[in-house]
Amino acid sequence: MTAIQTLLRGRTLSFLRWPDSAEDHGACAYEEDGAVLIADGVILAAGSYAGVKAKASPSAIVVDHHPHLILPGFIDAHVHFPQMQVIASYGAELLDWLNTYTFPEEQKFVDLQHGRRIARLFFDEILRNGTTTVAAYCSVHKSSVEAFFGEAHQRNMLTIAGKVMMDRNAPEALTDTPQSGYDDTKALISLWHGKGRQHYAVTPRFALTSSPAQMEMAGALMREHPDLHMQTHLSENHAEIAYALELYPNAGDYTAIYERYGLTGPKALFGHCIHLSEREADALSDSGSVAVFCPTSNLFLGSGLFDYQRLRTRQKPLRIAAASDVGGGTSYSMLRTMDEGYKVIALNGEKLNPLASFWQLTRGNAEALSLAARIGTLEPGTDADLVVLDSSATPAMRLRMETVGTLAEELFLLQTLGDDRAVREVYVAGKAMKADLAS
Ligand code: GUN
Ligand code: ZN
Repeated sequence: MTAIQTLLRGRTLSFLRWPDSAEDHGACAYEEDGAVLIADGVILAAGSYAGVKAKASPSAIVVDHHPHLILPGFIDAHVHFPQMQVIASYGAELLDWLNTYTFPEEQKFVDLQHGRRIARLFFDEILRNGTTTVAAYCSVHKSSVEAFFGEAHQRNMLTIAGKVMMDRNAPEALTDTPQSGYDDTKALISLWHGKGRQHYAVTPRFALTSSPAQMEMAGALMREHPDLHMQTHLSENHAEIAYALELYPNAGDYTAIYERYGLTGPKALFGHCIHLSEREADALSDSGSVAVFCPTSNLFLGSGLFDYQRLRTRQKPLRIAAASDVGGGTSYSMLRTMDEGYKVIALNGEKLNPLASFWQLTRGNAEALSLAARIGTLEPGTDADLVVLDSSATPAMRLRMETVGTLAEELFLLQTLGDDRAVREVYVAGKAMKADLAS
């Protein structure tokens, strides 16, 4: 029996490579009258409507999204799902913010039912914002990972997540031990990694909350499972950096702590990377590690300005992802995230062109997560995770659209004024999700 086919018609846009400028149309695949053909959750073809229609079965169901844009779903490369009730916590820098707001909140995730409730609301919220994949931190509790992956799996969403390992400098109720952190992680890997679309990430929270013995265990996990992602925080805040070096006095610099335990590499995702020395940036580049840009969080916590263009173009360039970092971050929307990202980059004396922004949210983040063979493009054979964007979603957007003349201008308008209201539909493995989201 042949699978049911769906033909989504609209203005299709995807990226082939980094766009050097707003005029670099060779970096994009854009069709004014385009289409994406889907069956069994996978993209069969994308391109001009006429070309794709010719490949479709006569019984294909046609959904017309004109005049809206159809893109690969957005990817958020760093977010804390247990911080939904931490977002918008007033008046603290990183370490005080963790102790005052975040650690108390994360303790609630000892309760599986609480974790399940927040996981449901979390996936509703990211989908409402057009995000179809996240790399997420759960709490220290195994049950929080169960809740997270359980909900992601039910929705057939591709995610990366892990239990934070933390054995010191946190409330008793939030600490594991090197052995229990290792054992719980092992158990979660065997339960969840490779189940449906779920990917496990070894997640030592950061050097401040992991003893050397725990860092050893995290390194052992990566040696035993070299295909896994590793996620942690690095060089976010000056007080954090100073404390890391106090706790690891022989390290030389913060990055060297992670290097020493074998935690750098192409699947290693380092949140923030704001205050790196040249040596640290070289070490991250040499190992193929990824620096994760979290603009709303970096502004909100007053952490500093990530130097996106310098790190991307230095002699030893860094691989870069972009992320919300909710709840240090202040929006679930990747449009809002890149709007703030644009301003951070502007404060560093550079500009990020709108094509590059949308490359970053789709193919760029997929490449940074080593997932571009599955998500982030409209290539045949990849998963049909898609977002449909309405550039005239609000009165202010509609009015500004009257003066927009190019695709790059339209994307910049979406980024600058858009949010969840601009997301008309979101598809996960070919399934339209929006109607089922809690409002
Ligand atoms: N560093 C360690 N934990 C966290 C966290 O939860 N959020 C942010 N922004 N930085 C961290
Ligand atoms: Zn974070």
